[in-house]
Amino acid sequence: MSEHELLTLQSAHIQELQRRYERALADHGYDSVLIASGAAPYRYRDDQTYVFQGFGPFLHWTGLAGQEHSWLLIRPGHKPVLWLFQPVDFWHASPDLPAEPWQEAMEVRSRQQAGAPELANTGRLAVLGDPQVLEGVPGDHNPSALVAATEETRVHKTCYEIECLAHANRVALKGHKAAREAFLAGGSEFGISLAYQQATGQREALAPYHSIIGLNEHAGTLHYQYYEGQVPRQHRSLLIDAGVRYRGYCSDITRTVAAPGEPRFAALVHGLEQLQLRLCEMVVPGMDYVEIHRKTHQGIAALLSASGLVTGLSDDAMVAQGITRAFFPHGIGHFLGIQVHDVAGKPTPPPEDAPFLRLTRTLEDGMVVTIEPGLYFIPSLLGPMLAGPQRRYLAEDLINDLKGCGGIRIEDNVAVTASGARNLTRELA
Ligand code: GLY
Ligand code: MN
Ligand code: MN
Repeated sequence: MSEHELLTLQSAHIQELQRRYERALADHGYDSVLIASGAAPYRYRDDQTYVFQGFGPFLHWTGLAGQEHSWLLIRPGHKPVLWLFQPVDFWHASPDLPAEPWQEAMEVRSRQQAGAPELANTGRLAVLGDPQVLEGVPGDHNPSALVAATEETRVHKTCYEIECLAHANRVALKGHKAAREAFLAGGSEFGISLAYQQATGQREALAPYHSIIGLNEHAGTLHYQYYEGQVPRQHRSLLIDAGVRYRGYCSDITRTVAAPGEPRFAALVHGLEQLQLRLCEMVVPGMDYVEIHRKTHQGIAALLSASGLVTGLSDDAMVAQGITRAFFPHGIGHFLGIQVHDVAGKPTPPPEDAPFLRLTRTLEDGMVVTIEPGLYFIPSLLGPMLAGPQRRYLAEDLINDLKGCGGIRIEDNVAVTASGARNLTRELA
């Protein structure tokens, strides 16, 4: 899609948000809503702030993830008013806004002050944002029913949002390719992270989440958060879970690479990828997402059996006894959008046997989800099983060897369409 087409879609996106917000305001008895972009908080007893990434609803309308102290007013029948904080400041740069068509769909005003604008004739006003920046601002702060209704406006992505997510996938894939090459060339975790940043043109702090780059046993820590600067003695595996933000929208992609000379681990990676592709095929309108999670456990059981990691138990018994959960302890995925774990995924709590599942809805056209099965060798989960009665089903030597490869996760971003789905991560291949 050309940039011109994308920008045209953005104007339609804003019109659609106006409709959705007007409905939400009417349903909950408000005449207007003021949205704060937020501000990076200071560290305790320090003059340094945390890295800023703007508040979801503000990004939903504007896509501006780096715009602190800015405000947006939505009123039925009026263009949104956007106040951008653009101080004259010789310490910091003011973000420069390239002229784009969406600014015609809003009234954009520049301001020197950081606090909320003074408003007149707002009627009953709601204010949404981080409570830390709302002190003293008139209006009802984050009323829960309206918050829920505005989060619901993010569940079905507009065409514009889907295209932004697709683009965020394309850029991230360049990073994943560079990361794989850096791994095969013998890089450290830190070196691989540099290769990823270089190829995506995105500094780490601006990524939608802290990239997870684990070599060898580090691949078995689900949200491994360090970048080891030392090159390990041996390269056995790489797990990289990393995304990109584009116009506010996130990609969230994971790939696992087996080093040459690791045929057993490579076979498991291949097996998990086949399972992952089958699970992606399940993404269609009308599908209960929890059902995809359950199918994952059956697939993991089949893989554990086929690889000889677990023997003497049927697949169903493996699931029922919680053995698959020790190898695959997280949920199959989540909504994706302005936030990597996008909002409104759990109108009902997850089932008891899937406590970490972040999405419990039936899939509908316009939803975007991740599909991210994993199979890990996590000492704290497998250790108790190896010390208990289930030990006789487990191939302990094989497990102990594969612990050195950490684990596998394969994650794609999939958009539900009217008739099926669009795999945003694989559609280029
Ligand atoms: N990157 C975190 C996740 O996959 O949910
Ligand atoms: Mn991820
Ligand atoms: Mn994810």
